[in-house]
Amino acid sequence: MPDTAQAPAWHVDAAKYEEMYKASIADPEAFWGEEGKRLDWIKPYSKVKNVDFGYPDVSIKWYEDGTLNVASNCVDRHLEKRGDQTAIIWEPDDPSAPAQHIRYSELHENVCRMANVLKAQGVGKGDRVVIYLPMIPEAAYAMLATARIGAVHSIVFAGFSPDALANRINDCDAKVVITADEAPRGGRKTALKSNTDAALLHCKDRVKCLVVKHTGGQTTWTEGRDIDVKAEMAAASTDCAPEEVGAEDPLFILYTSGSTGKPKGVVHTSGGYLVYAAMTHQYTFDYHDGDIFWCTADVGWVTGHSYIIYGPLANGATTLMFEGVPTYPDASRFWQVCEKHKVNQFYTAPTAIRALMGQGSEFVEKCDLSSLRLLGTVGEPINPEAWNWYNDVVGKGKCPIVDTWWQTETGGHLITPLPGAIETKPGSATKPFFGVHPVILDPTSGEEITETEAEGVLCIKDSWPGQMRTVYGDHERFVSTYFEQYKGYYFSGDGCRRDADGYYWITGRVDDVINVSGHRMGTAEVESALVAHSSVAEAAVVGYPHDIKGQGIYAYVTLMNGIEPTEDLRKELEKWVRSEIGPIAKPDLIQWAPGLPKTRSGKIMRRILRKIAEDDFGALGDTSTLAEPAVVEDLIDNRMNRK
Ligand code: WT7
Repeated sequence: MPDTAQAPAWHVDAAKYEEMYKASIADPEAFWGEEGKRLDWIKPYSKVKNVDFGYPDVSIKWYEDGTLNVASNCVDRHLEKRGDQTAIIWEPDDPSAPAQHIRYSELHENVCRMANVLKAQGVGKGDRVVIYLPMIPEAAYAMLATARIGAVHSIVFAGFSPDALANRINDCDAKVVITADEAPRGGRKTALKSNTDAALLHCKDRVKCLVVKHTGGQTTWTEGRDIDVKAEMAAASTDCAPEEVGAEDPLFILYTSGSTGKPKGVVHTSGGYLVYAAMTHQYTFDYHDGDIFWCTADVGWVTGHSYIIYGPLANGATTLMFEGVPTYPDASRFWQVCEKHKVNQFYTAPTAIRALMGQGSEFVEKCDLSSLRLLGTVGEPINPEAWNWYNDVVGKGKCPIVDTWWQTETGGHLITPLPGAIETKPGSATKPFFGVHPVILDPTSGEEITETEAEGVLCIKDSWPGQMRTVYGDHERFVSTYFEQYKGYYFSGDGCRRDADGYYWITGRVDDVINVSGHRMGTAEVESALVAHSSVAEAAVVGYPHDIKGQGIYAYVTLMNGIEPTEDLRKELEKWVRSEIGPIAKPDLIQWAPGLPKTRSGKIMRRILRKIAEDDFGALGDTSTLAEPAVVEDLIDNRMNRK
């Protein structure tokens, strides 16, 4: 265990973890009934858990008769004790621009002002608000303002294209979209407002556009539709009574990729989600009053929801929000920010660690990182080499590393070490969080493997309060995606190994989802973008191992008859996918495929395509069902160089 001389005692030790874990599984009602008290309820709940995992009538409810307001829990209730404490430290992209320290009292004022601006646009309880913003304080105000009036936000990552934005606005039938003129990142600017203008051409006329003038960059303005948020906020009242909502009323929708083409609107509700985000933030990161907590994610992902905004603010923490990227102006930026703001807990993704490791340790060593007490990672399995570098060079061997396994769907950490309680092993997410009952199933029989040492698919046996409740507008899809294949369990989509010590090791997705730089991508999404191009007849997309990104995107493309495969066309297709989905979906490699390997019934044999992309074509496995074996020879001969 690390040297903890000056640090406060850990919240739990090994014995306490065992005791609490056992209690949480033995009597979830009692355990979560007690934990629910960490929130302020308007009307306290009398019923804790009401869950049915039985196919097809899946229903998940926590604290169902309680009422509360999420924004009051994250802001108002702290005013008396810590009104002057910094709630949010905002560090801009440009290191020479001043950081902002937003006190809880100021956060309260700004959230109320923004809430009143939304109300003035006719937004009320249950209405959907799409947020398409850079990492600026207004993103936090917008989330909390939406929650304050009982509306539902859906954040679209600012790296997504106009098309992706339009699809999400339409799917959730949003009343307003909140955006900014431009999003600065790494010294470059993304034109968010013009992206939004392009998106809104495909949306209902009534959708209002609230624009944060952030950089002051030139934008076009549609009178009657576009609203200057800062000007309206300045004129708005700082009073806005929080709306009373039910524990099971939706708090947000967040779109995420699955194995089919269309992103799913993951729905999280108010009570259980907030209990779970707050509790995991406290225990996993061993957060204590006065600590400075930094999660480097973007609020466009669930990590930003739970661990920049909701978890930390529910706990009255000081949370850091960073607009920039790890490598701008150079590879020291993360560490400079840690030094400047005396960060105690630092939470990032393996892909960032690998990229920074590649730049050399000097960038870390020139900064004073003595404030750091804990390091965390999330998003994909971390390779031991990156883990060790993080541990030795960044943590100086003194900071426990929490490798947190969870998903957009789970709301918060499900499998993670607890510092002070669970010994780590590089590359393992270790043990379940309180109340979480993981099981490993045999993928073919669906039977639970009860031996400690096991390998198979990772499912969860019972609910936890942070679990998603449904897919927006499509409960059937929720049930069929997560509860149909393995009846009676929540199916994570991940493969997993459990070692002799009962430690969990995530081995990656077992469905057609790939993980590119910790971002989740359905291969079907990229495929449908490719085939939407007039030159493309057919496309198949798979992942392949990539040194920095974890997985890269490998696309096999069959062109329309008569179309010549050229370098220009390759570039055009890359650009096309960027514009259809966003830069994160751009294929790393495109191979021209005269044909794709198919079974006689016409099903694409992705297993073979994966092997070729992985450069592992010696082990293609059973190819006897291939309709045209020659196709495979051609693909192997013309495979792309992965370097
Ligand atoms: C998928 C979920 C939850 C926030 C970030 C991603 C992979 C996530 C880990 C980890 C191994 C991990 C899984 C999971 N994943 N964390 N610590 N070790 N794999 O959220 O976009 O919903 O993706 O990310 O494959 O299913 P997401």
